[in-house]
Amino acid sequence: MPAKLIDGKKIAHFYRNSIAEEVKQLKQEGVVPGLAVIQAGENPASQTYVRMKRKTCEEMGIYSVLIEYDDNVSEKELLGKIDQLNQDPSIHGILVQLPLPEGIQTENVIDQISPDKDVDGFHPVNIGRMMIGKDAFLPCTPFGILKMLEYENIQLGGRHAVVVGRSNIVGKPAGQLLLRENATVTYCHSKTENLSSYTKDADILISAAGRAKFIHGNDIKPGAVVIDVGMNRDEDGKLCGDIDFESALDIAGYITPVPGGVGPMTITMLMFNTVKSARRSLLEA
Ligand code: GUN
Repeated sequence: MPAKLIDGKKIAHFYRNSIAEEVKQLKQEGVVPGLAVIQAGENPASQTYVRMKRKTCEEMGIYSVLIEYDDNVSEKELLGKIDQLNQDPSIHGILVQLPLPEGIQTENVIDQISPDKDVDGFHPVNIGRMMIGKDAFLPCTPFGILKMLEYENIQLGGRHAVVVGRSNIVGKPAGQLLLRENATVTYCHSKTENLSSYTKDADILISAAGRAKFIHGNDIKPGAVVIDVGMNRDEDGKLCGDIDFESALDIAGYITPVPGGVGPMTITMLMFNTVKSARRSLLEA
C-alpha cells in the first residue's frame, strides 16, 4: 500500500481558518496584527518567499510592510531599522529574510530583533526558552512540522526520530521540539558516517539537508513517517525534496510531497506567531 500523503496545503488551510478568526477578534479589540519584512539583496528564492509571506498576510487580514535594501546595505543601517521597528507599536513581528548579503553578520542582525517581536523564533532568547520548555516563539518550519504530525495524530512519544541536517533554522530546533514531545532523537549531518544505518531505523524521518533526492526508499524503514523539508532542483530543473519521492512512496507509511508539504505550514506558523505577538501586546498594554 502506498504511503499516506500528508497534505500541507490542506493542513495549512485548517490552521489558517482559526488564525484568521483570531485576527478578526483582535481587530474588534482594536489591534491589527502587523508584520515587518526586511529583504536585503536580490536573491530570487528569497524574493519569492517574501512575496508568498506578504500575500498570506493580506489573505488573513494581517498588515505587512516590506523594507527592501540592495546588496550594498550596511549592517549599521539594518540594525538602525530594526531598532526603529522594535519601538513601533503597529509592528508585532519583525522578519529578516535570510540569507543576508555577504559582509553582514547574520548573528548581529538577529540579536538586534526584540525577542518579543522575533516571530521567526531565531533570537537566542527564544531558542533558549524553547529548549527549556518555556513559552517562546517557535521557529516556523519545525513548528509547522509538529503541527502536521499533530493533525495526522502521529504518536511521537518513545519513537525514534532521525533529523538529517543541523541548521539553526530547521534541523537543530526540529530535533529539540521532537525531544520535547518525548521522541528519542538522533541528529545526522554531512559528516555522519553510514547515514542510511540511521535513516533505516527512523520511525519519524525528517530531512532538511538540501540535497536533491538523496534519500531513497531503501534507506527508509517500512511504515516510517517521512517529512521532507528539502527545496531543491533536480537534474531537469524541477522542484524536488531531499527524498526520492517515487521510491519512498511504496515504503513509507506517511510522506510529505514537495512542493505542497512543509512549505505552506512554515508560512502558516509565521502568521500564527505574528497574531500571538499581537495578542500579547494587547495583554501587556
Ligand atoms: N530563509 C530560509 N528560510 C527562512 C525562514 O524561515 N525565515 C527567514 N527569515 N529566512 C529564511
